[in-house]
Amino acid sequence: MKKIITIVGARPQFVKAAVVSRAIIASGELEELIVHTGQHFDGNMSKVFFDEMEIPKPAFNLNINSVGHAAMTGRMMEKIEELLLEIKPNAVLVYGDTNSTLAGALAAKKIHVPVAHVEAGLRSFDMQMPEEINRILSDRISNVLFCPTDTAISNLKKEGYDNFKIDIVKSGDVMLDAAKYYAKKSNTKAQFADGIQHKAFVLCTLHRAENTDNPKKLKSIVDALNKLHLQIPVVMPLHPRTAKIIKQMRIDLKVQTIPPVGYFDMIELLKKCSLVVTDSGGLQKEAYFFEKNCVTLRDNTEWVELLQAGANELANALEVEEMVAKMQQMLSKTTHFNENLYGNGKAGEIIVNYLKTAF
Ligand code: UD1
Repeated sequence: MKKIITIVGARPQFVKAAVVSRAIIASGELEELIVHTGQHFDGNMSKVFFDEMEIPKPAFNLNINSVGHAAMTGRMMEKIEELLLEIKPNAVLVYGDTNSTLAGALAAKKIHVPVAHVEAGLRSFDMQMPEEINRILSDRISNVLFCPTDTAISNLKKEGYDNFKIDIVKSGDVMLDAAKYYAKKSNTKAQFADGIQHKAFVLCTLHRAENTDNPKKLKSIVDALNKLHLQIPVVMPLHPRTAKIIKQMRIDLKVQTIPPVGYFDMIELLKKCSLVVTDSGGLQKEAYFFEKNCVTLRDNTEWVELLQAGANELANALEVEEMVAKMQQMLSKTTHFNENLYGNGKAGEIIVNYLKTAF
């Protein structure tokens, strides 16, 4: 049987891998071994996703985290190369745009193991973002790129990908598959969301380095959220990166913070909330899947279709009044969520069908 090594390490990758792993098992034609790099290691950032989403237990845990970009990527590459030389898989599967993605792709490609990249072709056109660097490099060295949207494909074409020997496949978005599948189970299994009794509330997440590592931006975002919270409760599952920095800087965040939640709770919070405010890539789309408007605290987004659909507004994270105004505007705006922007929820099958015949 063909062997696939899946490399994951950060929270959004567990959600994406859950979809493809399930499709791999259903196919009965591929063997998958999961490597967890350890980038995200807290139980509520990692284990809860494996448990809830029934992701096969990682075959290997590398335990690499909490170091700088170069050390993290380098150490991961070293271990991944050792594993690949030993296991000799037919291909390596990587997801998204984290340091774990780049480490997996680069380690594999250098020893001529084919690389498949899920969620390929996305661009923010902001080379200050570590995620943008990871995306561009991972795409360029992959053998097949599974693209979630037409925009992703057109980004690749503009970069000249027609001239490269790389297959480009429009798979649709695996996160839509996940949302559809797990939304049927989440109401009986969520834990935290039940405790949120507000009739209306804003769901907020924040973790991007561009926001958390810039004291001025972080301070403005907190000011804006504190202001909004006076009008409507803001519920914020706090990412460890953000929690650490807010504590260090002694910033007075007055909204309702809760620990990071698992996938089922996130779905229930999405179903119940009135608006999403975030700097996460994934949550912007999940807001759309659950028919909620979103304000994105960034200067750009990879998910431009959401802007065009009127479901998402970018807000300058340095401008308190602008952020508050956009949040208020999106709270009262009626959007038509009837467009099929992210495929038909069958991305997992499309990816596995390709993997079965290639490599
Ligand atoms: C990473 C990804 C980002 C992705 C995000 C999803 C990179 C460069 N960034 O950002 O693309 O959107 O994951 O969440 O790969 N920490 C904990 N516990 C954990 C995980 C992290 O305490 O379970 C701490 C780390 O020790 C570190 C900080 O949080 O101090 C940031 O973690 P890191 O992995 O560097 O990046 P993320 O901000 O999570």
